[in-house]
Amino acid sequence: MLPGILARVLILLGYITASRCRIYENVSDLPENLIYDFVVIGGGTAGLVVANRLTENPNFSVLVLEAGVSNVGVLDSIIPSFVGNLLGPTIYEWNYTTVPQSGLNGRVLDYLRAHMLGGCSSHNGMFYTRGSAGDFDRYAKITGDAGWSWSEILPYFLKNEKWSPPADHHDTSGEFNPAFHSTKGLTSVSLPGFAWPIFYDHVLQTTKELPDEFPFNLDMNSGFPLGLGWLQSTVGDGMRSSSATSYLASEFIQRENLNVLIHAQVSQLVDAQNVTGEPFFDGVKFKQGISCPQQPPGILYNEIGTSEFTARAVKEIILSAGAVGTPNILMHSGIGDQAMLNALGIPTVLHLPGVGQNIQDQASISTRWFVNTTQTIESITQNATRFNEAFEEWNRSHTGPFVEFGPTHVAWLRLPSSSSVFENHTDPSAGPQTPHIELVFEAGAGLGPPGNASQHFMGAGVAVVTPASRGTITINSSNPFDPPVIDLGLLQNDFDIFALREGIKSAYRFFGAPVWQDIIIGPTQDLQNLTTDALDEFIRNTAAPPLHLVGSAAMSARDAPDGVVNPDLLVKGLARLRVVDASVLPIVPSAHTQAATFALAERAADMIKERWM
Ligand SMILES: Cc1cc2nc3c(=O)[nH]c(=O)nc-3n(C[C@H](O)[C@H](O)[C@H](O)COP(=O)(O)OP(=O)(O)OC[C@H]3O[C@@H](n4cnc5c(N)ncnc54)[C@H](O)[C@@H]3O)c2cc1C
Ligand SMILES: *[C@@H]1O[C@H](CO)[C@@H](O)[C@H](O)[C@H]1NC(C)=O
Ligand SMILES: *[C@@H]1O[C@H](CO)[C@@H](O)[C@H](O)[C@H]1NC(C)=O
Ligand SMILES: *[C@@H]1O[C@H](CO)[C@@H](O)[C@H](O)[C@H]1NC(C)=O
Ligand SMILES: *[C@@H]1O[C@H](CO)[C@@H](O)[C@H](O)[C@H]1NC(C)=O
Ligand SMILES: *[C@@H]1O[C@H](CO)[C@@H](O)[C@H](O)[C@H]1NC(C)=O
Ligand SMILES: *[C@@H]1O[C@H](CO)[C@@H](O)[C@H](O)[C@H]1NC(C)=O
Ligand SMILES: *[C@@H]1O[C@H](CO)[C@@H](O)[C@H](O)[C@H]1NC(C)=O
Ligand SMILES: *[C@@H]1O[C@H](CO)[C@@H](O)[C@H](O)[C@H]1NC(C)=O
Ligand SMILES: *[C@@H]1O[C@H](CO)[C@@H](O)[C@H](O)[C@H]1NC(C)=O
Ligand SMILES: *[C@@H]1O[C@H](CO)[C@@H](O)[C@H](O)[C@H]1NC(C)=O
Ligand SMILES: *[C@@H]1O[C@H](CO)[C@@H](O)[C@H](O)[C@H]1NC(C)=O
Repeated sequence: MLPGILARVLILLGYITASRCRIYENVSDLPENLIYDFVVIGGGTAGLVVANRLTENPNFSVLVLEAGVSNVGVLDSIIPSFVGNLLGPTIYEWNYTTVPQSGLNGRVLDYLRAHMLGGCSSHNGMFYTRGSAGDFDRYAKITGDAGWSWSEILPYFLKNEKWSPPADHHDTSGEFNPAFHSTKGLTSVSLPGFAWPIFYDHVLQTTKELPDEFPFNLDMNSGFPLGLGWLQSTVGDGMRSSSATSYLASEFIQRENLNVLIHAQVSQLVDAQNVTGEPFFDGVKFKQGISCPQQPPGILYNEIGTSEFTARAVKEIILSAGAVGTPNILMHSGIGDQAMLNALGIPTVLHLPGVGQNIQDQASISTRWFVNTTQTIESITQNATRFNEAFEEWNRSHTGPFVEFGPTHVAWLRLPSSSSVFENHTDPSAGPQTPHIELVFEAGAGLGPPGNASQHFMGAGVAVVTPASRGTITINSSNPFDPPVIDLGLLQNDFDIFALREGIKSAYRFFGAPVWQDIIIGPTQDLQNLTTDALDEFIRNTAAPPLHLVGSAAMSARDAPDGVVNPDLLVKGLARLRVVDASVLPIVPSAHTQAATFALAERAADMIKERWM
């Protein structure tokens, strides 16, 4: 009988714990009085890393304010290949657009940013690519802080990473180098978990037939990415691993010192103090409300309730609203270029002209070839029977074709040093081991417009990963709920066009390798025989940003005249305000940006803990 009672008591205790372990949707449910040691603005990729690590210390209380919705149970975020469903105008999106891009023949682009817990790690393409050792050694040089160098940041990549078996549990020897990975972190990383045998054989054979241009690289995350290798993705057990599924897993959200409030959009930092000669902000103002999915399209932010609240951070405010949200909040708080703030009637707290300047994204285009094998993604996406079978298989065992986003191999390439572009441009890369160009290969047309059941493709995405173009994020309204003005400046520098042209030629040489000739019918669009001008037109008319935005609150050396944050990520000229997200990277890494974001957030958490120990 005793065990029965004990069991009931345990169940009751479990219930009490469970009732605490949740994500708050209403500020009036929060147990604290809106006074915390740390307030983290933005429950995104970096923000949840910081919140998790700080609350490892039971003495620190942390409030996370996230504007967006919960990730829990959102199937399109869980199933790796379904992410496309999140990328339109949905409640999971901020619905930003850019200003007309002069380098793209005046096109206005949608600019995707996640509006949900986990931030962009909840809706990105799951590529796990760290960049080159040179990228990080350059950050160390720019900031004068060796802590950002490759050898010192690598432990933080490993602290984040939970290397995991692929969904199909195949033998992965020869597909990665375990010396550069850790199984002990939180975010799952794995190799492709569904086989496309014909495609795989052809890709790997190409590294043998064209070894000068496409040498096989066992592990592109070793710091030396040049060559062609197997893609690693933030997928575990056939499901997306985001900062929300990993750093906010049930064992963490149960912590009593960690409160996460969603539907809470921060407008500005308030109550600037300057008593000690070291100015700081005392409060974080936000509006709270429940999403209203019925709102008419085009009208932003009207789901935000009218109730305004101010949270207080006794130790620090951590700004992790992402490369768009962070400069937006800084400027609306009076931190930015004084002339611009004056023009909008926003009182300047700190003249810091670097805010929102020198931002960078990369540029990419997609190319496709018709093939006469049916072993492609189209065999599933264009066949309702197989699509349903694949869904049932995923639902049953988290295996099958839906365990990945699409691409399975990546080539990282450098322009030769003899390239004519270097007559007029200095090399924007971080050095001879850093790629300029990325080619992304997949057995199909991926997320692109569907063809029909009789069409099958092989696809190559082409990107310039060391762009020379730069843009800005500014504001043109004093209302913090108006969207910021995003000008990526895409393809304004001719280096970027040159690199994309060369990348396209490289993709043609790839599918021109002898091994492909048994299945390649031809390119869907002949880009090989275009004049340079016509090819440039094609590029300007089709290029898109891969959404790897950085630089909007860039770090620089302590005594540097430019930049927004010091190497310890504290905002220059202010105390107790740190930026921890992709905004702080002064130059985009030659890679996709989530791995760098996870690693920098892990290091930032250590720096914050050390400061307040
Ligand atoms: C569609 C897409 C695909 C991508 N694919 C890849 C990929 O395959 N691999 C890769 O490495 N990288 C990829 N990236 C880039 C990568 O995901 C981002 O660089 C990275 O996740 C950025 O992390 P962050 O912490 O800086 O910002 P985010 O993850 O965007 O987090 C910011 C958070 O702050 C919240 N927020 C913003 N403003 C406010 C406010 N005012 N109040 C409260 N909360 C606010 C946001 O809702 C969000 O949750 C992709 C990005 C996108 C958009
Ligand atoms: C928490 O605070 C107590 C009391 O000040 C202290 O003894 C303890 O070491 C602290 N714990 C950590 C992890 O810092
Ligand atoms: C804060 O106070 C110091 C000394 O009193 C002064 O030099 C500084 O300009 C002030 N900063 C701001 C942002 O007001
Ligand atoms: C939050 O809770 C308060 C008090 O219970 C309630 O009045 C309010 O309507 C709630 N807000 C929302 C947006 O549900
Ligand atoms: C984006 O648009 C969708 C569809 O109109 C809407 O439901 C969502 O709330 C919008 N997101 C924001 C942050 O306003
Ligand atoms: C669709 O898939 C089913 C099941 O594998 C198969 O029997 C059928 O032939 C396929 N249809 C087409 C048009 O390929
Ligand atoms: C997925 O599996 C669950 C049981 O695990 C079942 O209840 C549900 O209906 C399945 N969904 C679909 C769409 O097959
Ligand atoms: C470099 O610039 C000069 C002068 O503008 C121009 O004549 C030349 O064609 C350029 N070279 C290349 C490779 O673009
Ligand atoms: C379907 O594919 C066939 C063969 O390539 C092509 O002739 C036809 O136009 C395509 N139909 C559509 C709707 O794309
Ligand atoms: C701000 O810029 C946007 C374009 O990004 C434009 O649509 C909007 O009208 C501008 N608002 C003001 C107040 O100028
Ligand atoms: C596929 O196309 C190639 C190139 O046109 C041709 O040589 C080959 O015989 C075709 N193979 C099949 C299986 O149809
Ligand atoms: C296009 O260029 C390629 C490579 O130079 C050549 O083999 C092919 O015959 C050309 N095609 C046409 C239609 O001119």
